[in-house]
Amino acid sequence: MQSSPFKSDILKGKVAFITGGGSGINFGVAKALASHGAAIAMMGRREEVLQEACNELAGLGVKTFFKSGDVRSPEACEAAIEAAVQNLGRIDILVNGAAGNFLCPPELLSSNGFKTVIDIDLNGTFNMCRYAYKHLKESKGLILNISATLHYVGTPFQSHVSAAKAGIDALTINLAAEWGPDGIRVCGIAPGPIGDTEGMRRLAPGEAGEKLKKAIPLGRFGATEDIGLAAVFLASSAANYITGETLVVDGGQWLAKPPMVPRELVEQMIAKPKKDA
Ligand code: COA
Repeated sequence: MQSSPFKSDILKGKVAFITGGGSGINFGVAKALASHGAAIAMMGRREEVLQEACNELAGLGVKTFFKSGDVRSPEACEAAIEAAVQNLGRIDILVNGAAGNFLCPPELLSSNGFKTVIDIDLNGTFNMCRYAYKHLKESKGLILNISATLHYVGTPFQSHVSAAKAGIDALTINLAAEWGPDGIRVCGIAPGPIGDTEGMRRLAPGEAGEKLKKAIPLGRFGATEDIGLAAVFLASSAANYITGETLVVDGGQWLAKPPMVPRELVEQMIAKPKKDA
């Protein structure tokens, strides 16, 4: 499916359950886990998207299962998890990828708009963790929360998502501490701008995207494979002693500020080394 530095069977026998797994970054994670041996269960709101994604994986010989549902509904989460266990036998890796986003200044955002994003991202993540717990305890499994870097700084028009993702990161740390004794690891991945995804179309369309790309230290948008392989690493035995950690996979995007003055001006201001004078 994709070139990988890992052996193709390192997740053989494992089952990954991925919310929002039918498209974008989450489908990239599904493909990466599958191409290292995992069977894949998916949940999402759009049945036809899940069906298509599972067909693609099944065509490559991957065992798949999907159930449509909304992570905002605790009942739907429980039903999807139980159905997946019935079909695929177990859950070893829960990836909480389902998310909602749009750009909006806080003073123009309705309370329901704010609540909607918290409900999908944060409450949805909790719902899934809560109902997957007993199965993950049995498999000594992993929870992988897909977060973001928005809340590391103040990101304009993203107060709702920043608040939700900050909550998710807190949940990652807390559940790691509380469920570590049960043998469950809890980690996160914070993707930066990943090209050709719904998130990028919503957050940095057209020229805004090009401007953003220039400010990324590694000089490119991420690919869904970058996130997928990070997930494979965290799901592999190489990460057996890692928990509570959210791995940033963003090409350095969040930590780089634009220069305060243009480089040409700085070059004019540089003192000549004395030996050259
Ligand atoms: N700007 C401001 N407010 C917005 C908005 C926008 N672009 N889009 C939705 N809202 C508000 C709505 O006005 C509504 O609030 P109100 O009742 O006070 O009017 C509230 O959010 C809920 O909107 P609704 O469309 O009913 O929610 P939904 O559950 O159908 O959809 C969203 C959820 C809004 C997150 C939708 O964008 C979605 O389904 N996204 C999924 C995909 C996605 O976002 N992917 C990117 C991941 S990075």
